[in-house]
Amino acid sequence: HNHTFAPLPVPPLPEVPSGAWRHDVANRDLAGWVARIALLTRPDEVVWCDGSEEEWARMTARMVDDGTLVRLDPTLRPSSFLARSDPDDVARVEDRTFVCSSREEDAGPTNNWRDPLEMHAELDGLFAGCMRGRTLYVVPYSMGPIGGPISQLGVQITDSPYAVVSLSIMTRAGDEALALIGPDTPWVAGVHSVGFPLRNADGTRRDDVAWPCNPVKFVTHFPDENSIWSFGSGYGGNALLSKKCFALRIASTMARDQGWLAEHMLLIKLTGPSGEARHVAAAFPSACGKTNLAMLEPTLPRWRVETIGDDIAWLRPGPDGRLYAINPEAGFFGVAPGTSEATNPVAMATIREHTIFTNVALTDDGDVWWEGKTSVAPAHLVDWRGNDWTPSSTTPAAHPNARFTVPVEQCPTLSDDWFASDGVPLDAIVFGGRRATNVPLVSEAFSWQHGVFVGSTISSEKTAAQEGTVGELRRDPFGMLPFVGYNMGDYWQHWLDIGETLGDKAPKIFQVNWFRKGADGSFLWPGFGENSRVLAWIARRTAGNETTVRTPIGFVPEPAALGARALGLADGALEELLTVHEEPWLDECAQTEEFFGRFGAATPQALWDELSELTERLTVS
Ligand code: PEP
Ligand code: NA
Ligand code: MN
Repeated sequence: HNHTFAPLPVPPLPEVPSGAWRHDVANRDLAGWVARIALLTRPDEVVWCDGSEEEWARMTARMVDDGTLVRLDPTLRPSSFLARSDPDDVARVEDRTFVCSSREEDAGPTNNWRDPLEMHAELDGLFAGCMRGRTLYVVPYSMGPIGGPISQLGVQITDSPYAVVSLSIMTRAGDEALALIGPDTPWVAGVHSVGFPLRNADGTRRDDVAWPCNPVKFVTHFPDENSIWSFGSGYGGNALLSKKCFALRIASTMARDQGWLAEHMLLIKLTGPSGEARHVAAAFPSACGKTNLAMLEPTLPRWRVETIGDDIAWLRPGPDGRLYAINPEAGFFGVAPGTSEATNPVAMATIREHTIFTNVALTDDGDVWWEGKTSVAPAHLVDWRGNDWTPSSTTPAAHPNARFTVPVEQCPTLSDDWFASDGVPLDAIVFGGRRATNVPLVSEAFSWQHGVFVGSTISSEKTAAQEGTVGELRRDPFGMLPFVGYNMGDYWQHWLDIGETLGDKAPKIFQVNWFRKGADGSFLWPGFGENSRVLAWIARRTAGNETTVRTPIGFVPEPAALGARALGLADGALEELLTVHEEPWLDECAQTEEFFGRFGAATPQALWDELSELTERLTVS
C-alpha cells in the first residue's frame, strides 16, 4: 500500500497583544504569566505601570476626558477626583467571595469554598476575551516598605484604570517594586477584570460606561498558588486586590505557613508625658472606628497619638524575639460619611488634596460633600448617582459606603515609624467590638492565651439590649470573620502557637468597648479624643505601672485611673463602664460555648479551657 500523508493543518498561533512580553523582566514566571493572561483576556494592548507622577497625571486626565472621573475644583481640592460607581457595585461582595483551598475543611466553616480546578475552569470561561477593546494594565507593587523584611511583593493585572490609580495610592506600586522581583522572588498574582469587554467575539463594538462592571461577580482566592482572581466589580475591596484579598486572606495563609500574622488592625505610636513611646495594634470589625482611632487627637494633655496604619497590620517575630508590626499598605481607603472636622480633623486634613473620592456628593463649586461632613447640608448637590439633590431629598446625597482613597503620607499625624522597614516592636494588642452591654470600657487579659480567647469571642450586638440582658451576638473573631483565608479554628491555634514563640516577650492583650450603653439607651462613654484616657492606661500597664481591679474577665482600671471625673459623665456611668455583671456574663459564656462548637475539632482545647475557667471565675465570685 502506498500511503500519502497530508500534513495536519497547524492552527495559527494567536498573537500576544502588544506590550505583553517584556524581556527585561527578571522573573520568567511573571513575564510568561502576563502573556498568558493577555492571550486569555484579549486586550488591545498591555501596559506595564511604572508608578510615576507622570503616569498618575496621564491616567487621571484620560479618565476625566472619557467620563470615568470628575475633576474636583483644583483650588479647593487639588489633584482630586470623584468617581461614581454603578449603583449595584458599592461594597464588598462576601457571598461572591471564595477561598479555593484544595481541601474544603481548610476554608470552612467561615468561608465559601469552591474546588480550585472547578473554579479555575469557570473563571477561564468568564475571563476569555473579557478585556477585548480595553487596555490590560500590569501593576507590580510592594506590600510594606520596599525591600523590608516583613514586606511582600504582588502584581495585579487589571483592565480598570480606576483600579490602577487607586493601587498607586494604596500600595508602593511601580518600577521599584518590579525591580525587586528577581528570578526566584515569590510574588502574589492578582487577575482582575471589570468584566465589560468593549468588543464582542464577532468584532461588533459596544460603548463604554463611566463605571463598567458585570452582574456576575467573583472574588476568588487560591492559597495553594498564592493567586487571586476577581471578576465583575470595580469597587475597592473587590478590585484592589492588594487589600483584603492579598494583605488579609492570602497573607493569612502565608503567615500560617511561615510563622507570622496578617491582621485587620490599625497601628499607632503612643507617646506620654515621659516621652517614652509605645506601639499599639488594634483589631476591630469593619465600621467600628479604626480610622478614627488611628488618627485620634488626645484630649489628655501631653499625650500624642501618631498614625502608622488604619486597617491592616502584618506582625512578625523579630531577631530579638519581640513581635514587630508594619502597615503593609501605603494609603487609606476610608469611609467618608460621618467624617468631619468634629469627628476626625486629621482625616479631613489628610484628604485636602491628591484624593480619589468614590460615591460622595458633588457641590456646585466642584468640591465634595457627604452626610455628617457639615451639620447643615448645602442647598444643592449632585448626589452619588449623578442626580440633583437638595436637603429635602429623601435619599442620602453620598452613599453610606462612600470612600476616600488617599496616600498615608498626607496624614499630618503620620509617625516616622511608618517608614521603618523593620517595623515597630508591639507593646500592646487591643481587641474591640460594638457592645451595648457587658463588655467593660477596657480590660487587660490575664495572659496571651486568655487574650487569644478574648480575640476569638469578639462580637457586636445588633440592638441595644436592656441592661442585664445580652442581645444576640454577631461574632467577628479578631475582626477577621470575612478575612481569614483558612479554617478559623486553625487560625486561633496559630495565634496560640505565636504566643509560645514569643514567650515573655509577647505584647500584652487588651479589650476595649467604646459603645456600652446605660439603662436609658445612651452611650456611657463620650469616645473620640477621650479614648486617649484608655490608651494612656494601656500604655501605663505595658510599663507595669498602675494598680488594677481584678474581675472575672480581666484586670480593669480603678475608676480614678482614667482621670474621667472631669468629663462630667452621668452619675454612676464610670463605675458601670468598668463593672462586670456575673449573670449576663454567664449567659454570654453559654453563647460562646455554642459558638466554639460550630468549629468542631478545630477549636483549640486551650480556648475551651479558658471558657471553663471564665465560667468558674464568674460562678465563685
Ligand atoms: C472595603 O470594603 O473595600 C474595605 C476596605 O472594607 P472595610 O471598610 O470593611 O475594611
Ligand atoms: Na504609590
Ligand atoms: Mn477593614
